[in-house]
Amino acid sequence: MRSGLLLMGAALFATAFPGTTPQRVALSAQRGSPQDLEISGEVPGVPPGQKRFVRYADLSSLPQVTFTVKDDENFEHPTELSGVPLDALISALGINGAKEMVAASAGDGYETHYPPEYRARHHPFLVLRIDGQEPAHWPKGPDGENYGPYLISHPAFTPAFHILAHKDTAQVPFGVMGLRFLDEAAVLKELLPPGGGAATSPAMEGYRIAQQNCLRCHRDGDIGGTKSPFGWPQMALIAQGNPAAFGKYVVRPNSVNPEANMPANPDYDAATVAALTAYFRSFAAAEGK
Ligand code: HEC
Repeated sequence: MRSGLLLMGAALFATAFPGTTPQRVALSAQRGSPQDLEISGEVPGVPPGQKRFVRYADLSSLPQVTFTVKDDENFEHPTELSGVPLDALISALGINGAKEMVAASAGDGYETHYPPEYRARHHPFLVLRIDGQEPAHWPKGPDGENYGPYLISHPAFTPAFHILAHKDTAQVPFGVMGLRFLDEAAVLKELLPPGGGAATSPAMEGYRIAQQNCLRCHRDGDIGGTKSPFGWPQMALIAQGNPAAFGKYVVRPNSVNPEANMPANPDYDAATVAALTAYFRSFAAAEGK
């Protein structure tokens, strides 16, 4: 009886203040269209290891933002982009965003990561319209790429941190097919250099750089991209066995392998390379190699 009254009170409260209950987005067990966004990870109502799908129309019914974006490298000119903030999607999925890292995966094995701190600073949003148009009418990118099914952009991007020569970088993937919701603490634990170290130790600085840069294409266990066939253990062996070649590859992959697909990091100086080398080596050392 008492809980019944409480429930009734809650329902009345929600009706009186519609803004206080975040709108929930519908999840389907089956993909209905190539435009459906795949959802996985720690999401209420999604059993571990399973996927669910959200329709474009349902994403469009969530709170939308619109910006004329001037500094997104995927667009050569200022472009009007509209869509749903990742944080609005997080609440529409019933997730506690404060602890959640969002991993956006593209069809080509590229995975970008949006920790809570990054979202609070840069307000990334999932783009649903380009210049007011739906995906069927989207232009191609500067290199002829398809932007869809989804891309992620920002109202404007100002780097929020520097670690040695690494500057906080806008994470603006296109071809995004799915979002995975992960417990940030668990992810960071997996990436932490074995043995840890003071926050300012080279290995810990390398750890923070690798999180934003290397992890997009290289995998560590359950997390990271698959664009590169080399995961954390292989990189550890290279950093340990041939640190000079490792460092050269990080700064200018083409100087080692003319066919390299990995992008160069020409701004990385000796200290930055040393930090990354120390970080990856710590994984080899931990295995006694
Ligand atoms: C945009 C994707 C991308 C990012 C970001 C990236 N890599 Fe790579 N990396 C690759 C690919 C792809 C290869 C496979 C060889 C190739 O095509 O260059 C590779 C290969 C390597 C290799 C192996 C070279 C060899 O011996 O064959 C090392 C070492 C490496 N990456 C280190 C790093 C480090 C350290 C970072 C972060 C600072 C990083 N990569 C960031 C895509 C990436």
